[in-house]
Amino acid sequence: MSATRPFITLGIESSCDETGIGLYHSEQGLIGHQLFSQVEIHAEYGGVVPELASRDHIQRALPLIKAVLKEAECTLNDISGIAYTAGPGLAGALLVGSAVAKSLAWSLKIPALGVHHMEGHLLAPLLEDKQPKFPFVALLVSGGHTMLIDVKAIGDYEILGESLDDAVGEAFDKTAKILGLGYPGGPALAKLAKAGDQAAFTFPRPMIDRPGLDFSFSGLKTFARNTVAKYPEQKADIAKAFEVAATSTLMIKCRRALEQTNRDTLVVAGGVSANLALRQELDAMGLKLGAQVFYPRQEFCTDNGAMIALAGHLRLSKGQLSSEGEISIRPRWSLEELEAV
Ligand code: KG4
Ligand code: ZN
Repeated sequence: MSATRPFITLGIESSCDETGIGLYHSEQGLIGHQLFSQVEIHAEYGGVVPELASRDHIQRALPLIKAVLKEAECTLNDISGIAYTAGPGLAGALLVGSAVAKSLAWSLKIPALGVHHMEGHLLAPLLEDKQPKFPFVALLVSGGHTMLIDVKAIGDYEILGESLDDAVGEAFDKTAKILGLGYPGGPALAKLAKAGDQAAFTFPRPMIDRPGLDFSFSGLKTFARNTVAKYPEQKADIAKAFEVAATSTLMIKCRRALEQTNRDTLVVAGGVSANLALRQELDAMGLKLGAQVFYPRQEFCTDNGAMIALAGHLRLSKGQLSSEGEISIRPRWSLEELEAV
């Protein structure tokens, strides 16, 4: 890297059912990103089929990289480093991103770095013009994780609480299935809930009466199942009751985390942060507490390559590298094991 040359990071996301590619420029920020969602491939099975996911990542990765380079008017030779999602996620799917990243980096004689998928989500709000300042509390809500984190700096994370059973996105997906909605269930349930009457049912707010910041969402899904069995005609009301209970539980725990840490900034990211009812609830809480709440734009709430390009960029441009040559993935990986930047 010479002093005059910008540092451009290519990001590759392939941890689950979307192939995402992003290109992050040290001076211009995000200069390109594209996504291929496998939703249609998995929809007929009602959930992600890992082997089909891996096979599709293999087919999509290189054409998408070419498309993003074209979009940004760059060539492979402009890339300074490559970031790929090393985990957590589906092993086969992760291996595709890792193999593409490492071999491309080897051929271009540039560094490659494995990025933590949840760090990608956590830093996604930094892709926006209005950015949160460190330190802050982060609520990460995805299909696989529900976590409250005290974020002191990039890579300096303390998990304050997490789900003891289902992740909140998983609870949305499972409840959507119970309601007869397709995969992925979160957005479909949110849509149905719009037509629901909030006064019809009240679901319990799990664990809010217990101290601490852990979550439990599997009971909500069971509550939904029992209610559907009794009132099969009231699916929209049940969707509404589920959404209200899930989002207000998240809000209550966020408020507690902000109070406990004395922080005045909340960052919310991961697929479920696209949920508008959750955003409304958290914005209202922020106003009351005098705290600022930040989200990624809608398309960067769910999995994408832009967040991996950014997270990788923040490490690669400071010289951090993966172990040389190896195609390395970490399907299970705690955020607390990361190195601070
Ligand atoms: O972050 P993400 O794309 O993938 C993981 O890393 O898991 O999150 C996907 C999750 C799914 O469970 C999906 O149903 C949920 O996010 N989701 C939503 C909404 N959009 C996506 N849940 C509720 N409301 C939404 N609008
Ligand atoms: Zn994700």
